[in-house]
Parts: sequence; C-alpha cells; structure tokens
Amino acid sequence: MYLKILCLVTFLYASPGLSFKPVVLIHGIMTGSNSMEMILHRIKEKHPGTIIYNVDRFESWSSLETMWHQVLEIGQDVANISAKHPEGINLIGYSQGGLVARGIVQTFSNITIDTFISLSSPQAGQYGAGFLHLVFPGLVKDEVYELFYSRVGQHTSVGNYWNDPYHQQLYETYSVFLPYLNNHLQSAESQNFKNNLLKLKRLVLIGGPDDQVITPWQSSQFGYYHGNETVVEMKDQAIYKEDLIGLRTLNESGRLHLVTVPGVNHFNWHTNVTIVDNYLLPYLD
Ligand SMILES: *[C@@H]1O[C@H](CO)[C@@H](O)[C@H](O)[C@H]1NC(C)=O
Ligand SMILES: *[C@@H]1O[C@H](CO)[C@@H](O)[C@H](O)[C@H]1NC(C)=O
Ligand SMILES: *[C@@H]1O[C@H](CO)[C@@H](O)[C@H](O)[C@H]1NC(C)=O
Ligand SMILES: *[C@@H]1O[C@H](CO)[C@@H](O)[C@H](O)[C@H]1NC(C)=O
Ligand SMILES: *[C@@H]1O[C@H](CO)[C@@H](O)[C@H](O)[C@H]1NC(C)=O
Repeated sequence: MYLKILCLVTFLYASPGLSFKPVVLIHGIMTGSNSMEMILHRIKEKHPGTIIYNVDRFESWSSLETMWHQVLEIGQDVANISAKHPEGINLIGYSQGGLVARGIVQTFSNITIDTFISLSSPQAGQYGAGFLHLVFPGLVKDEVYELFYSRVGQHTSVGNYWNDPYHQQLYETYSVFLPYLNNHLQSAESQNFKNNLLKLKRLVLIGGPDDQVITPWQSSQFGYYHGNETVVEMKDQAIYKEDLIGLRTLNESGRLHLVTVPGVNHFNWHTNVTIVDNYLLPYLD
C-alpha cells in the first residue's frame, strides 16, 4: 500500500504537464493580446504543458464596443474551447477583460470553468477620473453621467459599467449591462446568471489600494460607494448579503478568494512577474 502511494506521488510529480487545465486570457481596455504575453510565458515556464488561449478580439479601440457584444462574441470562442476540454478550463481576465470574463461565466451555461481569476477589474462598476481619462481625457467624472446614462452613452463599454453613486436612478434606467449582470435589477436571465456563477470551483478577486485606476479600488472585490463616496465593502453590500449572484454561497463553501495586494499600480498587474508567481499560479491546476 505504502509503495503504491509512493509510486503514485512520483508519477504525479514526474508528469506535471498532465494535470494543468487549459487557460484562457482576456486583455484589458485599449490594449490587446500582446499585453497578456508576460502572463502567458510565465505560466508556460512554471506549468509546462499548459495550453493557453490568448483572446485577440476587441483589441485597441474596438475594446470600447459594448460589453454585451464582447461577452457574446468572446463567449462563443470560450464555449468552443470549453467543448474541446470537457475536464474544465481556467479563465483569467485583466481590468475590463475581467468584467467581460464574468459576463461570459454568468451567461453561458455550456462552459465549464474551474477557476476564474479577476485581475483588478471593475466588478462593481467604476466612478473615477483614472479610468475615464484612459479613454476620454476631456471628460469630468461628476458630469459624465449625462453622456453615459443615455441611449448613445450605452454604446461604449465604459458607459455600460459607469456607476455614479450620485445618480443611481439614472444608472438603473439607462445602464443595460452592470445592474443586470449583478442582479441589482431582475431580468429573465437573473437565475441563470446566478446558477452559472455558482458552477465555479473557485472565484479569485485580485485588487489593491495602490491601483489608482479602478475607482474605488474595492470594486475589484465587489466593494463600492454607497450614497456618497464612502466605500462599503462587499460583505456589507446587498449583492453579497442577499446573495444576489451567489457570492455568499461561494464564500460559505470556501470557493471565494479575495486577494488584496498593495504596491501595484493598475498598469503593472499584468507585467509584474511576482503577481503571476504569488497570486495566479497557485490557483491554476
Ligand atoms: C465554434 O465551433 C463551431 C464548430 O466547430 C464552428 O462552426 C464555429 O465557427 C466556432 N465558433 C467560433 C466563434 O469559433
Ligand atoms: C454554447 O451556447 C450558446 C448559447 O448560449 C450557443 O450559441 C453556442 O453555439 C454553444 N456553443 C457550444 C460550443 O456548445
Ligand atoms: C456618506 O454616507 C454615510 C452613510 O450613509 C454617512 O455615514 C457619511 O457621513 C456620508 N459621508 C459624507 C462625506 O457625506
Ligand atoms: C467568507 O468566509 C470566511 C470563512 O468562512 C469568513 O471568515 C469570511 O468572513 C467570509 N467573508 C465574508 C465577506 O463574509
Ligand atoms: C510587483 O508586485 C509586488 C507584489 O507581488 C509588489 O510588492 C511590487 O511593488 C510590484 N512591483 C511593481 C513595479 O508593480
């Protein structure tokens, strides 16, 4: 018996490539698949044999196309990838790509994701000059709701997750994406959105206080402003307390991991090798 176990252990250690699930990477806004190459190479180096798909749709300016469009298009690719790997795949999205990725996880019932890692993504929305000025340098955060909360404003990805704490009624009236994905507003898909998120084996939400672009940075872990610019953490938000999309159930079954890393600017999460080593690789098996 002892010998058998020893042999099995040796076998597992000697053939690491067999055990790593394929990984899908989704890039951030105004960039493309190139920006994810450090992560790709590092995973291949440390977990040899891993098959990696680096999404090259919606690069550069087309990353501003609507969130639902991106979710449905990239989701078809991921569904095809998933069909090829019935044992399950892992998904990593950076910045806006992490919100596209969550849209895919919650929308597609025919995708089997083992671990989904959201790397500094505006999961609860965005209200800050940092992100806004990446794309629209001339706009002012406390006035931009007039643009985003309109039919036309909803034609950009950023408008789809702009969450102005001072104009919640307009957000609920006009935003076609985030309030629905978060089951803040009910739709025919609400139950499906929750069921699909609950199929994850692990949800890892990475973010940090020195991000300077995701505002508030706690949005990377479902914390957000409430009423004014005072941040309310995830555990005290309705989305968690009322288990609207399954976050509380995920946590109670040990599947939700909040990872807070200080000292990382938004533009360094995907270029900093210690982030991959310490916070991505341990979850990729
Ligand atoms: C998915 O796979 C099907 C069947 O192989 C193919 O017809 C379709 O074009 C693929 N879709 C995408 C988005 O790659
Ligand atoms: C996955 O489901 C979507 C509809 O939700 C469908 O359009 C797509 O063809 C399916 N893809 C695969 C590979 O089963
Ligand atoms: C923000 O709202 C919270 C709770 O509603 C309140 O306690 C706090 O005083 C408010 N802060 C400001 C600056 O208005
Ligand atoms: C998640 O679960 C852990 C362990 O059960 C618990 O300590 C933690 O407080 C929970 N997190 C939240 C946000 O409730
Ligand atoms: C890289 O990440 C580590 C945390 O893993 C952090 O302490 C360090 O400041 C980061 N460096 C840069 C340049 O972002």
